[in-house]
Amino acid sequence: MAVGCFNPVLSPLVPSPPRSRLRAALRSHSHQPTAVSLRLLPSGAAAGRGTWRLAAAAESQAVQEQQARTEEPGEAGGPGAAEASSKLVLVVGGTGGVGQLVVASLLSRNIKSRLLLRDPEKASALFGKQDESVLQVYKADTRNPNDLDPLMFEGVTHVICCTGTTAFPSKRWDGENTPERVDWDGIRNLVSALPQTIKRLVLVSSIGVTKYNEIPWSIMNLFGVLKYKKMGEDFVRNSGIPFTIIRPGRLTDGPYTSYDLNTLLKATAGERRAVVIGKGDKLVGEVSRLVVAEACIQALDIESTEGQIYEINSVKGEGPGTDPEKWEELFRSVQSD
Ligand SMILES: NC(=O)c1ccc[n+]([C@@H]2O[C@H](COP(=O)([O-])OP(=O)(O)OC[C@H]3O[C@@H](n4cnc5c(N)ncnc54)[C@H](OP(=O)(O)O)[C@@H]3O)[C@@H](O)[C@H]2O)c1
Repeated sequence: MAVGCFNPVLSPLVPSPPRSRLRAALRSHSHQPTAVSLRLLPSGAAAGRGTWRLAAAAESQAVQEQQARTEEPGEAGGPGAAEASSKLVLVVGGTGGVGQLVVASLLSRNIKSRLLLRDPEKASALFGKQDESVLQVYKADTRNPNDLDPLMFEGVTHVICCTGTTAFPSKRWDGENTPERVDWDGIRNLVSALPQTIKRLVLVSSIGVTKYNEIPWSIMNLFGVLKYKKMGEDFVRNSGIPFTIIRPGRLTDGPYTSYDLNTLLKATAGERRAVVIGKGDKLVGEVSRLVVAEACIQALDIESTEGQIYEINSVKGEGPGTDPEKWEELFRSVQSD
């Protein structure tokens, strides 16, 4: 039985700016936030954008493999959707393994994103300096309620949250960035700060959260990661905001958070494009990060996913790619009521 194995990725903790400075920055940029905006880079773009190009290349290689059969891309349809979207998607955890792919896919669909990052420099390193009308980056640590200024949420229509830390002590816990602080305090703070006008909040959680006292999940939960993720889930469920919770199995393909050229180039879903969706926390196994990112984006638009919790795996075979109808069918196939 597979057990979720969380990434031992290193990441520095960057202190937040004084609230007054942040407010001033936000006000003076009410239409041009303290942001990096993105467009897909043409090949041969300036140095410093290399990582994003690689991420984009990895994403397009893998995602395009999956979407080869996409016929009519809707808003959540295939990359390159010609029409600009009316959505503004807040991505929290956009520098993470899943988060990077979410951002890349939103960009390729011409959907505006806003990132909340502890270190905005990471966005420049990953995505390059881009058009502010396409991608905006705000500095925030979800553990600090004071970082979550209401101005950051202005205009946001949808939210995808894929924050996380390691299940076991690691460098990523530096500054007390532990599962309790990220998966519970962070989620509670974020959800409390969100306006009730949000059309959909998609939370990436984990399989096993309802069984954290049972072996083998109790091993993964030694430092509370599954328990705190469940508490975060419950807070989302009781928030009154329309939500969808995606519980991935063990994440594969990546992690892209290594910012390593070879890793990024290898980042494809390969043959594991078929998607298995479950309900009731019964599913075990693995899932490609590309598939999780796609599930999050698709769920934003599929009405039947509102208020639902899904487990997700990916296995060898043909998958739904970016076809909204196929995703809708998949999600519906496990709908209880
Ligand atoms: N790995 C697995 O096998 C597995 C299995 C099941 C579920 N999951 C869950 O799936 C989700 C996505 O996994 P992943 O591998 O893509 O995650 P990841 O690479 O570890 O990325 C985590 C993201 O969360 C951000 N973050 C961490 N602490 C934060 C804070 N205090 N404030 C704001 N942002 C913060 C990180 O930003 P920084 O750049 O600032 O660190 C990063 O962008 C996570 O919730 C993870 O726990 C993972």
